Amino acid sequence: MKADIVVGLQWGDEGKGKIVDYLSKNAECVVRYQGGANAGHTIILGTKKIVLHLIPSGIVRGKLSLIGNGVVVDLDELIEEIDHLEEMGISTDKLRISSRAHILFDFHKELDKASEAAKGKLSIGTTKSGIGPCYVDKYDRAGIRAGDLLDENILREKIKNYVSFFNTTKAPVYHVKKIDEKILLKATLEKAKKIKNRIVNTHEFAEKLIRERKRILFEGAQAAMLDIDFGTYPYVTSSHPISLYSFAGSGIPPFFDFNVIGITKAYATRVGNGPFPTKMDDKTENLIRERGGEYGATTGRSRDCGWLDLFALRYSAFLNRTNEIIITKLDILAGVKTLKVCTGYSYRGKLLKGYPDSIKVLCEAKPVYREICGWTEKDITELKKNKICRSIRNFILLIEKETDTKVTYVAAGPERNDILKLRKI
Ligand code: IMP
Ligand code: MG
Repeated sequence: MKADIVVGLQWGDEGKGKIVDYLSKNAECVVRYQGGANAGHTIILGTKKIVLHLIPSGIVRGKLSLIGNGVVVDLDELIEEIDHLEEMGISTDKLRISSRAHILFDFHKELDKASEAAKGKLSIGTTKSGIGPCYVDKYDRAGIRAGDLLDENILREKIKNYVSFFNTTKAPVYHVKKIDEKILLKATLEKAKKIKNRIVNTHEFAEKLIRERKRILFEGAQAAMLDIDFGTYPYVTSSHPISLYSFAGSGIPPFFDFNVIGITKAYATRVGNGPFPTKMDDKTENLIRERGGEYGATTGRSRDCGWLDLFALRYSAFLNRTNEIIITKLDILAGVKTLKVCTGYSYRGKLLKGYPDSIKVLCEAKPVYREICGWTEKDITELKKNKICRSIRNFILLIEKETDTKVTYVAAGPERNDILKLRKI
């Protein structure tokens, strides 16, 4: 029995949706273990474009799909996504939600906006989808969980307590509207009706998967460099995208071997605020942004683009215990004559040994670049025809050397099958 964990190695948007969709062919259960509707996983099927925010990408192939306890669930988003999939003829019958997953409410979004506004110049540039404030409630032990939706009396009691807590503490401090207990209860009960039958007991669900030796695919959202502990704090998300959280965020302990598949683009992007050492010059950045469609799937914001940062990638590949790397969007760099690749950071005249823990050091650090020859292959067909040209081969070898991890696939193009296997691990 073996499980796969797909994780972003950069700052998100590496194309995980497409890869999870591709790899979930062989999976029997696909699991989301952290984050919430701040994620946007895009899958292109012919003329159909499917963007998933909360539901695991495995649903598109009809796989048993779990929203784990580590996820924060916005019920409006979830119901909208279910309806949207069903309208497109994709069944959501096999969607399950952990009863331990926390519910994200509208007031979390209001708190997110208020918190960002109050931080001013130091704002994080969040997606404003309420993720941070919902996790705050979880760790403050004030949160309401999916399981609470199953019993009206319990829900009434929880909402009553929460509203009293919120209206006397958060509402006046953050200058947000007080919550009306009755309206919230009525609306929540209404939404609960639509998803109730999908809520599962964490222990029972996980034990059955392990007993039946099901092949599991864990689908990370965001990426390691946005991890609350290991990312570029404070410019991070409020959950743990790293691979090893997949077990804690789902209640499925690793009674199996697991294979970690790290995803990186051939370049780097970042959305939101915070340092980005390898940001490109404006002209190249505009070209890559337009070609790569580097606009947020959730917020529509334009993403900053930069050269591939192998120093960050080395850290990330290590941290995630990565077994193999998949490089996406090779085609986007086609025609750029000379590519820059960052192999380290220099700080006050010295090369750093480890990736900086301090944001101050990170802001001052200068990338050390190596220049390499570009390529002209614009799509997967050309890539295959030219049997991966020498420049791409050298690029792959450099990534493998710096990260000490093998590259197993390269992808070029948005379609499910725009991917090429290089080797087996
Ligand atoms: P939050 O997750 O909405 O709190 O946002 C915190 C940071 O994570 C911001 O810089 C966001 O732009 C970034 N972020 C959150 N979700 C994603 C994602 O799916 N892709 C890329 N960046 C993300
Ligand atoms: Mg995304």
